[in-house]
Amino acid sequence: MPAERAKKRVNTTANNVLPFRKKGGPTATIECEDNLSFMRALDPGSMKLIVTSPPYNIGKEYEERRSQERYIEEQAACIAEVVRLLHPKGSICWQVGNHVQGGEIFPLDVLLYPLFKNHGLQLRNRIVWTFGHGLHCQKRFSGRHETILWFTKSDDYTFNLDPVRVPSKYPEKKHFKGPNKGKISSNPLGKNPTDVWDIPNVKSNHVEKADHPCQFPVGLVERLVLSLTDTGDNVLDPYIGVGSSAIAALKHQRHAYGCDTDYGYVKTALARIEQLHAGKLRTRPMDKPIYQPPPKNRGGQ
Ligand SMILES: C[S@@+](CC[C@H](N)C(=O)[O-])C[C@H]1O[C@@H](n2cnc3c(N)ncnc32)[C@H](O)[C@@H]1O
Repeated sequence: MPAERAKKRVNTTANNVLPFRKKGGPTATIECEDNLSFMRALDPGSMKLIVTSPPYNIGKEYEERRSQERYIEEQAACIAEVVRLLHPKGSICWQVGNHVQGGEIFPLDVLLYPLFKNHGLQLRNRIVWTFGHGLHCQKRFSGRHETILWFTKSDDYTFNLDPVRVPSKYPEKKHFKGPNKGKISSNPLGKNPTDVWDIPNVKSNHVEKADHPCQFPVGLVERLVLSLTDTGDNVLDPYIGVGSSAIAALKHQRHAYGCDTDYGYVKTALARIEQLHAGKLRTRPMDKPIYQPPPKNRGGQ
């Protein structure tokens, strides 16, 4: 087995994630290991949120292309294991885009949905994640969205809307009739962020860019962590890459679990967690508005 693929277990304690954190804070358990063997060592029902983005079988540097049948089989094995680990009130969020072959696209959420339904899970949202940057296609429209399938195990699941509300469009709007006429009609805490999330993807000039071609923006995972878990819960990412899910969990006092087969990515994940402990990790604020270039930079307007 090449050295970079060797199994390595690392435990870190995030006592000093931010200056106000007390001792006994959240822990991060990150391993360089295949996810099936990593997950088999974890307790059933122990994970409140399992959030991940698997390989898409498109020949990225961290994957080998395989037949679609084999890819689906591998996903089925991983999904069976995450379902075993899912807390009764917990959620699975599977973030995917398209498999592309010979110019034809195969939406992975469509292909993988039945695998979750085979386990009796219930789909709560199919979140559309839109972003501004990517390849410019010549023979189809350029892809600028991916999806997150959010499943729960039962009807009784954790969902905290208030921590993830976003500013209302018309905060001063008032009821125009009825008993509340003249009173502010919108929630002062803000509105539901909806199931369409416009969050920049992590490209070269993004503050979070590390040595991974397909990082999660930390803010995207933070929204899921805050809404689908409570303080002290466990969050697992079985394809953790450079640790974005762990960072989102630790920032909000949740315990982080994850693994990746590439030791280089795991090392980067641990370094990022250390930076977080030291208060030196830069992340894009979860609700920062999308940058709009001024008209003079838009070319002739
Ligand atoms: C799309 S990337 C995830 C990136 C991650 N969301 C981040 O923010 O860095 C998929 C990752 O899965 C890892 N991977 C592929 N097969 C794996 C397996 N069987 N077990 C664990 N990790 C695996 C790859 O090395 C890659 O880093």
